Amino acid sequence: MQANHDLKPVSEFIPEQAPERHIIEMNPKKHEIALSTHNLQVYYSKKLALSEGDLAFERFKITSLIGASGSGKSTFLRSLNRMNDGVATVNGQIMYRGLDINSKDIDVFEMRRHIGMVFQKPNPFAKSIYDNITFALTQRGHYSKDQLDEIVETSLKQAALWDQVKDELHKSALALSGGQAQRLVIARALALKPDILLLDEPSSALDPISSARFEDTLLELKEHYTIIIVTHNMQQAARISDYTAFFHLGKAIEYDLTRKIFTRPKVALTNDYISGNFG
Ligand SMILES: Nc1ncnc2c1ncn2[C@@H]1O[C@H](COP(=O)(O)OP(=O)(O)O)[C@@H](O)[C@H]1O
Ligand SMILES: [Mg+2]
Repeated sequence: MQANHDLKPVSEFIPEQAPERHIIEMNPKKHEIALSTHNLQVYYSKKLALSEGDLAFERFKITSLIGASGSGKSTFLRSLNRMNDGVATVNGQIMYRGLDINSKDIDVFEMRRHIGMVFQKPNPFAKSIYDNITFALTQRGHYSKDQLDEIVETSLKQAALWDQVKDELHKSALALSGGQAQRLVIARALALKPDILLLDEPSSALDPISSARFEDTLLELKEHYTIIIVTHNMQQAARISDYTAFFHLGKAIEYDLTRKIFTRPKVALTNDYISGNFG
């Protein structure tokens, strides 16, 4: 048999391998970075629950963290404002305005005024609506009644709850519905005038109508806040976020513009997850 010299090398016929990870590089000249993590690792006693979470978050954008249950989304999010202190060992740097807020000498309470967090289950205090919002402020500083009134009104308006509660500010917050309670805890976080808002599955307990209104609220808040949100709801991530990070087994596997993640992800695992083919 004659050798066929036109044969191409075998390698040209092997389909290009999908990368195992793809993390968007933010260009600091084009994107203002609000917060970034470097070499972040989280251990629960000796168990490594999160690694290679090197992500940068753009200011005034919404970033969704998605991934299966147990993939490390909450572990990552909680580390960002030191909620894992005393629970886990968090190594690495978390840079905020040129400071490593994961370092020992940071005043954690002061830092949390800048980086606020709202948990999955709304947890209003057993106090009035008004006192829920002013509590943290009055613990830390002196405010006149007028100042507090103003902050209560502004934060409730930002959280789209003012119209519903303005005549009952001194009623117990425990009487609010689930959707209202979620708005209240957001108003409470906003009262501290944070820069960054961390939200861990904030609408998982809401009915579809409250959830839709909540999404509208987040889109309005984006004008003034940088938002990082863990969500189980992929439609929600696709609707509201500018960027999406997909977590798998304690690592951020793919991080990119949301429209890229949901139309043509680069990593096969991401594609499996968003198309619902997760084994
Ligand atoms: N307080 C904790 N103590 C020990 N292990 C934990 C704790 N919180 C989370 N984990 C473990 O860390 C891993 C990631 O969990 P988590 O961050 O809650 O995932 P997700 O939010 O994506 O569902 C899981 O294996 C979980 O069991
Ligand atoms: Mg979680």
